[in-house]
Amino acid sequence: MCGIIGYVGERPVSDVLLKGLKRLEYRGYDSSGVAMFHGGKIEVHKAAGKITEIEPLLADRKQKGLEGGIGHTRWATHGAPNTKNAHPHKVGDIVLVHNGIIENYREIQKLVHSKGLTPKSETDSELFAFLVHFEMTEEKCSFVEAVRKSFLKITGASSVVAMHEQHPGLIVGVRNGSPLVAAWNPELGAMLASDAQPLLDYANTVHYLENGDMIVCERNKIEFIDAHSGLKISRPGVKIDWSADRLDKNGYPHYMLKEIHEQSRTILDTLNANFAASGAHLPFDFAPHPGIDNLSRTDRLSIVACGTSWHASLLGKYWLEKFAGLSVEAELASEFRYRSPVLKKNQVLMGVSQSGETADTLAVIQDVNKREIPTMCITNVKGSTIARESKSALYTYAGPEIGVASTKAFTGQMLMLLLLAGKLGRDVAVNDSTGKAMGEIERTYRELFEVPHHLSNALMEGSPTAKAVKAAALATQNSKGFFFIGRGYSFPIALEGALKLKEIAYVHAEGYAAGELKHGPIAMLEPDFTVIVLAPHDMWYEKTVSNLQEVKARGARIIAIGHADDKQIPQMCDHFIPMPIKTKKDDGTPTMSEALNPFLLAPILQLFSYEIATMKGTDVDQPRNLAKSVTVE
Ligand code: G6P
Repeated sequence: MCGIIGYVGERPVSDVLLKGLKRLEYRGYDSSGVAMFHGGKIEVHKAAGKITEIEPLLADRKQKGLEGGIGHTRWATHGAPNTKNAHPHKVGDIVLVHNGIIENYREIQKLVHSKGLTPKSETDSELFAFLVHFEMTEEKCSFVEAVRKSFLKITGASSVVAMHEQHPGLIVGVRNGSPLVAAWNPELGAMLASDAQPLLDYANTVHYLENGDMIVCERNKIEFIDAHSGLKISRPGVKIDWSADRLDKNGYPHYMLKEIHEQSRTILDTLNANFAASGAHLPFDFAPHPGIDNLSRTDRLSIVACGTSWHASLLGKYWLEKFAGLSVEAELASEFRYRSPVLKKNQVLMGVSQSGETADTLAVIQDVNKREIPTMCITNVKGSTIARESKSALYTYAGPEIGVASTKAFTGQMLMLLLLAGKLGRDVAVNDSTGKAMGEIERTYRELFEVPHHLSNALMEGSPTAKAVKAAALATQNSKGFFFIGRGYSFPIALEGALKLKEIAYVHAEGYAAGELKHGPIAMLEPDFTVIVLAPHDMWYEKTVSNLQEVKARGARIIAIGHADDKQIPQMCDHFIPMPIKTKKDDGTPTMSEALNPFLLAPILQLFSYEIATMKGTDVDQPRNLAKSVTVE
């Protein structure tokens, strides 16, 4: 969860570390710190709170980074988020930063105490520095060897980056579970970090460490070592096609708002990338892909994911069942891994993960790999652990997502799942003599290319949709609570809408299948409660309207989202948010396949949460207690 960085090279070390830490801040932001050489000694600067807190401490530390420096931004696991527990930790000459959890920390703690020593912090991380210190002072190991031997003594998923006061210009990293990525170039020197984003400012080829790898970084080279054998290994470079300018806010007040608006473009990017790769001779064509081949051969798919990615997976289930007749379960990875799931030999298991690093999703993929069931994943990050551990990977083209609450990555996942459903469904429908299924698939595919245009119309400042979102948010911001309800494709979107509001506005919100409301939650309804009803004109419309009436009868405030020309709902609700499409075009043909409604509803709800959060003045991009990449259980 934490972000770690190390640098040795020509550039001013404090600048590189601070800039890199800001790129990593989405991983955790309760405290931070850097360690760097100054006057032949290693200085440690730490502070509770965000990176901006340590910036002033480094104002007069602008020297070149030739002696090296390391930095950390923390999401607390062991010990409260305060300056004492902030990283780096220094024991004797050793200074280090750590990401992950050392599971056998009690054992090491006892060892430290038995030698009459007392750690300064409550963290498991500092204990690792003691291990290295003991290896060097008692076993007379070299620094690199001491880090290696200490690493073999800890259990749990961790990465550590360390320096030694007597070895300027040398940084050592080790990885087991928590990601670590390195880059080197002649002008830059060597750099390593928890993910590729901070490296993109200096290089576009990066090297991912595998579990059990060590890296030794110096100004003129990086070397990889197998931590178990101590032998040199090679880790080939991976070219990253994100450019650093996509990591900036581009004039938006928050990354989240920028990323909400980017969705029209990212949807089109994904469609075009697929189109180009496959040649698209038929709707929903894909370039040849082993994962898709496996899916074509099976009638059963289990999808595992966490958080927002789970909501996308649920929606994938609806599409894959409808279009492709595939039996699909969409499960929370944290539950799935500790159940006794019944998997069939000929089925496929898919992980869906924006970051490609989520611990629970990764663990399921690793377990299922052992059972010889084909695994695949949908992820946004090439080279991520889940991408590498899965037998095959499909990528979304959302680009880097910095806001902790997922937006464009979610629509990217939805799109990839819909494309899969369309492709598998088309292959079945080609042999359907009635041609009915093929007709629907062709139409959905055609209209998919119009979604970015509709979405831009919805989100554009001053549009009827955006204005209605703002007005509804203003009127309901102080509600006692929110329910989001929907049926069919709108149900997973209701779950996601409620999650967004909780995440960034800290408001109580629940998502329900509209049909479930009367089985309990309806008891909560009263006038200062708001219910957001997702009611596009689809096959569930009439039933959703009945649920809306039940809400109205209980006096709760209603925000309804529907087609712009809906005559019925605006009369029944307090606030109507029009989707920027009509039910029918002027020639009487339907405007948009109902399977595509989620691509408009989700961003509208993202905007709604954003409006409420900004009205409440919360930290939209880095909400309290959250981290974007959850690499611990
Ligand atoms: C965290 C993030 C969520 C995300 C979830 C799963 O909780 O804050 O936004 O949906 O992890 O992450 P993944 O990277 O696997 O999609």
